[in-house]
Amino acid sequence: MPLLVLVTLLLFIAPPHRPISAEPPPGEAIVGRVCTLCHTLERVDTRRLDAKGWEALVNKMTEFGAQLSQAERRDVVAYLAATQGLQVLKAYVINEESQDVWVIDVATKRVLAKIPVGKLPHGISISPDGKRLYVTNMASDDVTVIDITTNSVIMTMGSVGRNPHESAVSPDGTFLYVTNPSSNLVSVHDMRRHSVVAVVPVGRVPHGIALSADGTRAYVANMESNEISVIDTSTNQVIATIPTQAGPHRLAATRDGKRLYVINSTSNQLSVVDLTKNQVALKVLVGHSPYDLAVGAGDTVVWVSNEGSNDIWAVDGSTGQILAVVPVGGGPHGIAITPDGKELWVVNINANTLSVVDTASRKVLATIPVGKRPHLVVITP
Ligand code: HEC
Repeated sequence: MPLLVLVTLLLFIAPPHRPISAEPPPGEAIVGRVCTLCHTLERVDTRRLDAKGWEALVNKMTEFGAQLSQAERRDVVAYLAATQGLQVLKAYVINEESQDVWVIDVATKRVLAKIPVGKLPHGISISPDGKRLYVTNMASDDVTVIDITTNSVIMTMGSVGRNPHESAVSPDGTFLYVTNPSSNLVSVHDMRRHSVVAVVPVGRVPHGIALSADGTRAYVANMESNEISVIDTSTNQVIATIPTQAGPHRLAATRDGKRLYVINSTSNQLSVVDLTKNQVALKVLVGHSPYDLAVGAGDTVVWVSNEGSNDIWAVDGSTGQILAVVPVGGGPHGIAITPDGKELWVVNINANTLSVVDTASRKVLATIPVGKRPHLVVITP
């Protein structure tokens, strides 16, 4: 085995490591009166359960001493299943300086929980089944694994190489791909055993990583070598390299597998890569210091956050036409779109806020305070 590969591998063998209506539903008042007798409502807020789960939990509370008639119990279960059911969408914001993840209810815009993570958290990815969240901590060289149902930390996973930057999860949730910019590597982790299964050398200073919808390819943006490494996930080998504009950073593949959208931070450009030819088909000048992107439901509209010009641009990915410019708060950074494509959630790293943008009217609907130096945001599927 060549020495360089051996040394590289050794790096990874570190020690392990409410809906609002005119008439409030009857359950709401009962929850406010009875469920606050022994603890605060924040305790109730931590859980997302279906009707069966809420029934079991409310029964447990009656055993603890909660006074509820049969009818009241039914009303409480109906109310909680509707407002805190499994289908409730949640946004997760990672804050670099306060070193935590804030959980926000997408419908009510209320903060549900704050979860402490590792040092200098930088990347956040969500498993496609919506069960797990992975936070890459650049300064503590580990990944915080969070259970989305309970909003609690399951484990801190070590052996992820130096300065883990960003990550992506395979469609079935089995593999986690982590970029290591200081060693020009991508490490692949089997999340059933939390162990490294491959270390893939890529270009210089890999940052963003995205998987194809079918999970057969991983695309890695190499900021210093101005190219995308294409990894075949069945062999964990680089099978192609696609030159882009200067400073490729964050990227996303379309659901139909035909295109890859790449944000080039240093050259202020969006590259549209034709994946049938593995080459850039279109380059579009966007705002200053673009940082992140979100792809609209139809795969064509690309929303770009521009940290330097404090705005969000909507770009037509097939023609390069600029469809809209929406001013937001200071330093728009990470951006995510709701599954129905109706709202964009954008974190403003300099203002410590999150802007919610309506994609139809292209107006800011709400501005929510978040932690210190919010970096990225993801929304549950
Ligand atoms: C008589 C006191 C009492 C009342 C009233 C009460 N609880 Fe609790 N609750 C507790 C205790 C004690 C715990 C902690 C038990 C534990 O951690 O397993 C708890 C914990 C919880 C938890 C966290 C449990 C978990 O598994 O995460 C939730 C959620 C909760 N209560 C919901 C409710 C709701 C909803 C109501 C109103 C229907 C309610 N509680 C009323 C005593 C009460």
